[in-house]
Amino acid sequence: MSEALILTEIIGDGARRTGLITLNRPKQLNALNDALMDQLGAALLAWDADDAIGCIVITGSERAFAAGADIGAMAGYSYMDAYLGNYITRNWETVRQVRKPVIAAVSGFALGGGCELAMMCDFIIAADNANFGQPEIKLGIIPGAGGTQRLPRAVGKAKAMDMVLTARMMDAAEAERAGLVSRVVPTARLLEEALAAAALICSMGGASVMMAKQCVNRAFESGLADGVSYERQMFHALFATDDQKEGMDAFVNKRKPVFRHR
Ligand code: CAA
Repeated sequence: MSEALILTEIIGDGARRTGLITLNRPKQLNALNDALMDQLGAALLAWDADDAIGCIVITGSERAFAAGADIGAMAGYSYMDAYLGNYITRNWETVRQVRKPVIAAVSGFALGGGCELAMMCDFIIAADNANFGQPEIKLGIIPGAGGTQRLPRAVGKAKAMDMVLTARMMDAAEAERAGLVSRVVPTARLLEEALAAAALICSMGGASVMMAKQCVNRAFESGLADGVSYERQMFHALFATDDQKEGMDAFVNKRKPVFRHR
């Protein structure tokens, strides 16, 4: 049996629960190797297909969410190894295929591929000890899992260039100011806060949650008119769901909605 490079746990007692993934190479600061990314991708896809799961949280250890792609594992790669092996594309981008929300709960270092993995998630909740960075330039390479594209979209060109070119880290407070993370919480309460956010998402109508995620992501992949038109189509489509009838009837009749995710 292969080593458990991630730990998985299902949290909650509602009809839809949260899948918690803990990256599990603490001694290596959760350096992301191929085997870990394969296990992460498999867990994500399994929960995405599971009706009982409404949201996924990815976290690391208190010291490190992940300190990047595993440098030792790739140090000897030739161009052909990287190109023919489809390095990164082969198993990292599975995160982007997930239709349910994925929250990154980041404590400690989120560097290189660790920062990129967090940015592939739908939003980041940071512990107050978190440090984000793209230090690949110090290794004679550049970010390779979307960092040069997602970081400027999150924090703007000036800060992204600064981080990518000088390898400087951004602490949690700066990351929140810059818009990289949605909130900063005390380190000891990180998981509790992330799981509470996930539980709230689990309690919403499943189709509206997935369509909301699709629409917000569209904002980064299209122009305004196309994005608004896409949103309008999804908005209209939601009137065909049982959850819209339930949600609005519950509001009108001053009761709590019971969504059936249909
Ligand atoms: N890959 C492999 N091993 C790593 C690692 C990484 N990215 N980051 C840390 N480790 C290992 C260290 O080698 C060390 O192992 P040993 O105990 O066996 O020596 C262990 O984790 C603890 O690390 P340190 O002793 O270095 O801890 P520190 O507190 O002194 O420093 C750190 C922490 C600043 C995060 C430092 O470990 C560091 O700079 N790590 C590398 C960060 C980096 O360059 N990340 C980018 C990787 S490239 C990439 O990600 C490409 C991409 O875009 C996909």
